[in-house]
Amino acid sequence: MRKYQDLINESENLKDLEKIRVEIFGKKGILTSKFQELKTLNGNEKREKAQQLNKIKTTFTKFIASKKEILEKKAISEKMRESAVDVSLFDSHNEVGSLHPVSQTMDKIIEYFVSMNFSISEGPLIEDDFHNFEALNLPKHHPARDMQDTFYFNDSKLLRTHTSPVQIRTMQKIKPPIRMISPGPVFRRDFDLTHTPMFHQVEGLVVEEEGKVSFANLKFILEDFLHYMFGDVEVRFRPSFFPFTEPSAEVDISCIFCKGKGCRVCSHTGWLEVLGSGMIDPNVFKAVGYENVSGYAFGLGVERFAMLLREIGDLRSLFEGDLRLLEQFR
Ligand code: PHE
Repeated sequence: MRKYQDLINESENLKDLEKIRVEIFGKKGILTSKFQELKTLNGNEKREKAQQLNKIKTTFTKFIASKKEILEKKAISEKMRESAVDVSLFDSHNEVGSLHPVSQTMDKIIEYFVSMNFSISEGPLIEDDFHNFEALNLPKHHPARDMQDTFYFNDSKLLRTHTSPVQIRTMQKIKPPIRMISPGPVFRRDFDLTHTPMFHQVEGLVVEEEGKVSFANLKFILEDFLHYMFGDVEVRFRPSFFPFTEPSAEVDISCIFCKGKGCRVCSHTGWLEVLGSGMIDPNVFKAVGYENVSGYAFGLGVERFAMLLREIGDLRSLFEGDLRLLEQFR
């Protein structure tokens, strides 16, 4: 048995110790077979031998248990050493996030108008027919409704197709003077290189006592705004049509890529369309119960601004969440 005492002493891990335990106490273990030999003995001899074996059994049981305790402690401290994390280690792969180019552009737009004393209003994304169309001088079956492919929930509930309903909600809530912008997502059934079913607009609305705002004010603020956004560009107002403004104008800037010479981005016209605008149509004022006022409104697509400012070719890439694209805009 001395041999086993040494083996236990020298065992270095729990697995080895268990092997030795089985060699002694297992079914075919040395001690087990010794106990079996007792059957062949009788009387005093049997009793003495049994006492002796039981003594050995107790000694080894205790011996193994105490060695087991030591090895268990050793195993735990080894495991702790292996899985330790050095929190003071410098991680060179630490990546810093950034604002999405659409958010950056939105922030810059808002920054300009807040500096010009505009307040910010928001409206619901789920709109009703009245605010999104009817009150904006777009009665049912008006052909101009086709300009905007609408997501409908039912006959009256829809996803707003533009931020213009916030004009109506603001005018229903407060009396002039009004000087506000309304940023937020809008939805249209469209999907190609330059259209996504969700995109962002910023609406502008200014209403004053009759005669206090004119097209000249609209022209000034939009020119100033576009110079703030795009730097040294030419700005031109082109007669257009929106049901809720009269007169209406679309606003172009000289192409920032070819400086007006003509290229693929501006379809060789030298101009980029960036804004819709106009004087508020009297029918809109009628719908909200306003009298003796005048005002102007404008609307722009934030993604379009972001694409032009950041030279992004495919609008859809803004919504893919591809880090390789986003990393360029830190
Ligand atoms: N709501 C228009 C659109 O979505 C833009 C616009 C807003 C035009 C305000 C004129 C005045 O296209």
